[in-house]
Amino acid sequence: MSVTTAPASTAPTTHLPATLPARVLGWGMFVPERVVTNHDLEQTLDTSDEWIVERSGIRERHRVGPDDSTASMAIEAGRAALDKARVPASRVDLLVLATTTPDQVTPATAATVQHALGTRGAAFDLNAACSGFVHAFHVAAACLRTPGIDHVLVIGADRFACYADPAERTTAVLFGDGAGALLLGAGSDDPAGPGLIGVDLGGDGSAVSCLEVPPDQPYLVMDGREVFRRATRGIVESCTAALERAGATAADVDVFVPHQANLRIIEAAANRVGVPMDRVVVDIDRYGNTSSASIPIAISEAARDGRIKPGSIVLACGIGAGMSWASALFRWGA
Ligand SMILES: CC(C)(COP(=O)(O)OP(=O)(O)OC[C@H]1O[C@@H](n2cnc3c(N)ncnc32)[C@H](O)[C@@H]1OP(=O)(O)O)[C@@H](O)C(=O)NCCC(=O)NCCS
Repeated sequence: MSVTTAPASTAPTTHLPATLPARVLGWGMFVPERVVTNHDLEQTLDTSDEWIVERSGIRERHRVGPDDSTASMAIEAGRAALDKARVPASRVDLLVLATTTPDQVTPATAATVQHALGTRGAAFDLNAACSGFVHAFHVAAACLRTPGIDHVLVIGADRFACYADPAERTTAVLFGDGAGALLLGAGSDDPAGPGLIGVDLGGDGSAVSCLEVPPDQPYLVMDGREVFRRATRGIVESCTAALERAGATAADVDVFVPHQANLRIIEAAANRVGVPMDRVVVDIDRYGNTSSASIPIAISEAARDGRIKPGSIVLACGIGAGMSWASALFRWGA
């Protein structure tokens, strides 16, 4: 299920100017050591490896142990991104942590991460469920226009698996834990330079009950088929809107990074958006649905493997509870 190499990027596509200049200077990811395979789940649930692989594409997922927390995973991913960029934490002016699973109600988990890493300036959490990272990415790129903000560390970290009832086979198999991070730096005014080319953010609060941890309950309540339907349609509509706003088409997309919720959703949405699967990053087989972390983990792996390279046009799309969605078309540059 690994992904073949995206076509080599040609010269920068000047017909797609970056409206929000931003440079990805570094990337990083972290997943906890503990691996839970489908065969492990077979021991306690009325399920099978065959069913899970066929219906979701998931083979295994990583889950937090007693020493892991949302903050500890975010710290590891954030530190990796800073190390990759060779930028000291003291030069980070803003830290945005996308998470659905903060370690405590207050203060923001971002405060713990800020202290551990030694970043300066503001630090706050952003909760938009599985679309949180793309929302945070947009906030970061927009904030880079603010005088005094030159570096923004954007992290997505979640340990959502503990909100799936271990005795409920429909949800217990889906989620994994982890974190991913990108360090963004100010871009240039060069229209062919790196940055955000097109964005679509949206939500439909009438769909809250499709996918929620109700206030008086410990576990996720989900209408799986309805979420499947809405997620597939939402990814297609949001990606199409972002492409149209940018004056781009699916043919411009070198690498598509959709939220990793279900392989069948990814395949159906990519097909309808018009991006062939050899340009789609898929890692759901190894990580499951890691919520806010899914997109930065996928981006980090694709950048590490050279599938995303300087000049690549990347389309990222997150969708999740709310329902909420966010798409970003951007040119990668270091
Ligand atoms: C959850 C999901 C994988 C279920 O797949 P599905 O093909 O829709 O399956 P259904 O819900 O229609 O259930 C079909 C049957 O499989 C069963 N089933 C559900 N989970 C199972 C499991 N883990 N193992 C074996 N059987 C299972 C159901 O009980 C049902 O049995 P029944 O026909 O006897 O009632 C799928 O709906 C999905 O991925 N939805 C989106 C969820 C999501 O992405 N959430 C997070 C969004 S960010």
